[in-house]
Amino acid sequence: MTLWNGRFHKELHPQALKFSSSLAVDKRLYREDIEGSLAHVAMLAKQKIVTTHEARQIKKALLEILREIEMGKISFNEHARGSKRLIAEDIHMAIEHRLIEKLGELGGKLHTARSRNDQIALDERLYLRRTILNIQKYLRQLQKTFLKKAEQYKDVIMPGYTHLQRAQPVLLAHHLLAYVSMLGRDYERFDDCVKRVSRSPLGAAALAGTSFPIDRKFTARKLGFGGIIENSIDAVSDRDVQIEFIAACAITMMHLSRLSEELVLWSSKEWDFLIINDAFTTGSSIMPQKKNPDMAELIRGKTGRMYGNLIALLTVMKGLPLTYNRDLQEDKVSLFDAADTVVACLSVFSTMFRTVKFDTKRFETELNSDFLLATELADYLARKGLPFRKAHAIVGNIVQFCMQKKISLKDLSLKDYQKHSKFFGKDVYQILDARTSLHEKKSLGSTAPREVSKAIQFWKRKLKK
Ligand code: ARG
Repeated sequence: MTLWNGRFHKELHPQALKFSSSLAVDKRLYREDIEGSLAHVAMLAKQKIVTTHEARQIKKALLEILREIEMGKISFNEHARGSKRLIAEDIHMAIEHRLIEKLGELGGKLHTARSRNDQIALDERLYLRRTILNIQKYLRQLQKTFLKKAEQYKDVIMPGYTHLQRAQPVLLAHHLLAYVSMLGRDYERFDDCVKRVSRSPLGAAALAGTSFPIDRKFTARKLGFGGIIENSIDAVSDRDVQIEFIAACAITMMHLSRLSEELVLWSSKEWDFLIINDAFTTGSSIMPQKKNPDMAELIRGKTGRMYGNLIALLTVMKGLPLTYNRDLQEDKVSLFDAADTVVACLSVFSTMFRTVKFDTKRFETELNSDFLLATELADYLARKGLPFRKAHAIVGNIVQFCMQKKISLKDLSLKDYQKHSKFFGKDVYQILDARTSLHEKKSLGSTAPREVSKAIQFWKRKLKK
């Protein structure tokens, strides 16, 4: 028997019920659903819509149901006892069914002045609030992991890249701290999302509000929200925060994916910059020598699915007339997958990255090859008064010359330097050193060791809180 069978001559076809049921997906909202119902029934009593005695019985039964679910006593197999028929199409009805089983007619009073339309909108917001806090915890954890590595390898210089071509020397710590900044923005993005999550849709009822003298602000306060979603039509139709949340997850995943890509590249023989611990790599079933960075690859792959979640929900929404449409039920698959995926990836990345060992010797040898200090050379000429464009062209010629001779910038004689420009003096060799070049950087936020130390101190303070 369904809860609306008064209007119908026939019960829902078993196939239709099975098809339309969201219980398998939304049963994980049981805590939020009960939390919302407890606030609702307290409000009904305060407004004298039910008696205090009735409210007390309902509250007690709801708490019992919570315990039953938590102890695994309710299996949510969607079937009535001893029957093959499904009884509940979603978590809201499953809980209400159980309540009516326990309290009889009285159980039916809980749904006064409420609809599943405002109920699901509320449950998802309660879920998001809790989930965002959890994600933020993992974001902080990963930031700390990176910060530790940055400190551990504070003095290591590596080739910095643009276009995946060696560009200029930078501190490894500077590179790692870039990720700390990215994750910091992710954290703020979730903070920002919470502000909009924290509005209660409860009391919008189906779409139009209710003729019962409810107190929406009371339930909002009781549930710890900052306020209510004023317009009842908006309250039941809106899925903006869900989209914002998935977008924030997608950006975080994009960051993790770039990170993963670097781990994949840097752990390959071609780079050989780092070693991922055996415990986070896999072998090949055929090639005995293989050691594969599967965790990083999977994170990169899951990022694709995360973008899918975002596009899925945006697409569900784009053609929907106001207010509630059953299409909205599809939001939960994307929502939960987004949350579960981002937590799993942040968590495994932290543990894995802690075990990463950088090959500092390899960085050193690589620094001396290539022409990483060509920019310093151009700056040198510019400081001596040449327009930078001109200096750039001269150094370009010098690089060309050295490549033909198969020598490095350091090996070029002063005479040869002076053939290219009279501005070159003996002091040119002093700047042809990676560490000197770092110390020479004067700009805010540069890879100069003192700037990097400042950044480490900044994040240490920030992450301590
Ligand atoms: N399971 C539904 C959902 O997730 C709950 C709201 C159902 N409302 C309705 N009028 N059928 O969207």
